[in-house]
Amino acid sequence: MESNVIATTPFEGQRPGTSGLRKKVRTFQQPHYLENFVQAIFDTQTELAGGTLVVGGDGRYYNREAIQVILRMAAANGVARVLVGRGGILSTPAVSCVIRKYKTQGGIVLSASHNPGGPEEDFGIKFNVAAGGPAPESVTEAIFARTQSIDRYRVLDCPNTNLDMLGTVAIGAMQVEVIDPVADYAALMEDLFDFNAIRALFDSGLFSMRFDAMHAVTGPYATEILENRLGALPGTVMNGIPLEDFGGGHPDPNLAHAHDLVALCEGPHALDFGAASDGDGDRNMILGKNFFVTPSDSLAVLAANAHLTPGYHSGIRGIARSMPTSQAADRVAEALGVECFETPTGWKFFGNLLDAGRITLCGEESFGTGSDHVREKDGLWAVLFWLNLLAVRQQSVAEIVSEHWRQYGRNYYTRHDYEAVDAKAAGALVDHLRIMLPALPGQRFGNYTVAYADDFAYTDPIDGSVSANQGIRIGFEGGSRIVLRLSGTGTEGATLRVYLEFYEPDPSRHHQDTQEAMAPLILIARELAQIEARTGRAEPTVIT
Ligand code: G1P
Ligand code: ZN
Repeated sequence: MESNVIATTPFEGQRPGTSGLRKKVRTFQQPHYLENFVQAIFDTQTELAGGTLVVGGDGRYYNREAIQVILRMAAANGVARVLVGRGGILSTPAVSCVIRKYKTQGGIVLSASHNPGGPEEDFGIKFNVAAGGPAPESVTEAIFARTQSIDRYRVLDCPNTNLDMLGTVAIGAMQVEVIDPVADYAALMEDLFDFNAIRALFDSGLFSMRFDAMHAVTGPYATEILENRLGALPGTVMNGIPLEDFGGGHPDPNLAHAHDLVALCEGPHALDFGAASDGDGDRNMILGKNFFVTPSDSLAVLAANAHLTPGYHSGIRGIARSMPTSQAADRVAEALGVECFETPTGWKFFGNLLDAGRITLCGEESFGTGSDHVREKDGLWAVLFWLNLLAVRQQSVAEIVSEHWRQYGRNYYTRHDYEAVDAKAAGALVDHLRIMLPALPGQRFGNYTVAYADDFAYTDPIDGSVSANQGIRIGFEGGSRIVLRLSGTGTEGATLRVYLEFYEPDPSRHHQDTQEAMAPLILIARELAQIEARTGRAEPTVIT
């Protein structure tokens, strides 16, 4: 087998965004496009030579082709061993679990997360470091810098590797081990949660649930864990077969996209519990009988109840949430007397805090929750955590959350997304707000008085690195907030995200409709940012 050096020239725009390099499949299919980026990883992450690399993806269109390219290039770049999930499948949290368990030098995740899949849709590639998490900005910037001057890549001339048979094969001097994608992850979940208690809940026959895998990567994980190990009824897992185009759906577990599951959790015959995960298995949505748990509330409830599970029985060290996530978790941290951190959007900002042992739990409003068990957010983990709480507390989801609100107050929360707006107009909208910021404190809008207004900047408490321009925060007296930022994961135009949070301490007002309760704040946000005038959009595209 011959190792070839292929001449190439740089492509524009290979800078990783919030979560890796995401582009249309067609972009990745251009000759040398994927190869350039992969070579930039090998050129900058030199410990991979002679080391072990984990490779897997969410099964979307182009997953298998990309893995073959990566294997040939890994062999040519001197990687000693690659662990690859059978069928090319590994959920994002499972990649993190495998990197950590086998102490590898890193991993490559192939996914565009919750974005649709298929020949005309999205693909993505992300490098995870030896700690198991997404590469920090210093690493992604180094990879990007390399893509700008790249002039050659190395690839072994060899046939495709059979990804569907467990076992070890050689590509040149490199060992490729095709591993069971579920086994290591499932074992970790058994360590963290009380499987006996959850099994008893299912055995009681009094508890009904469905898990919607949305034809994405969690199908095999959920079937093995929920149905095979925990004894949930066959059929508990819906849409459990991973498909290259996710069955034509949008694998994003929220009220808009997981509508079949949402319908099963509504009405007089509603299920007791519904949950869903996204394309690559790191997001989660939690539903009770006629009840939606916001991800921000979910983080707060898990934190307040963590001591009830085996994995966290000795308590949590601290909590971190992304800036736009509601402040519900802050109140729990305060009550527990542990630290609480506000980080920029994106999971990578939790890595240092987790590695340093400063936090145990972390989460984002975008349906992401996780802990120090891996270095990614973890959809099924959150579902099992909730199942463990339901089994131990013997209460419904609604009872647990309502009780939580009674104790801490309720942070009403909603996010309004304006998708695929003109990028220039969106940029100008944010610039305009930025100019207004200094004059806002003290101003009154309806019943709301601005307490502070800034463009969020974060100084990492562990390595001192500074991330500026992370989103506009307008905080009001009494704890309500408006946050605006532009998405870093979109592949079309710009997406404006408006995050709204309204704090209500009075339990007699805890059961209002969210959009109604927040209407005055929503109006203030629209007017302050001049959304319609600047984007031409009277209404958001998606409300979560
Ligand atoms: C979005 C979410 C963010 C999440 C990221 C990756 O990023 O808002 O919380 O970490 O996807 O799943 P955004 O498009 O807002 O930059
Ligand atoms: Zn995801």
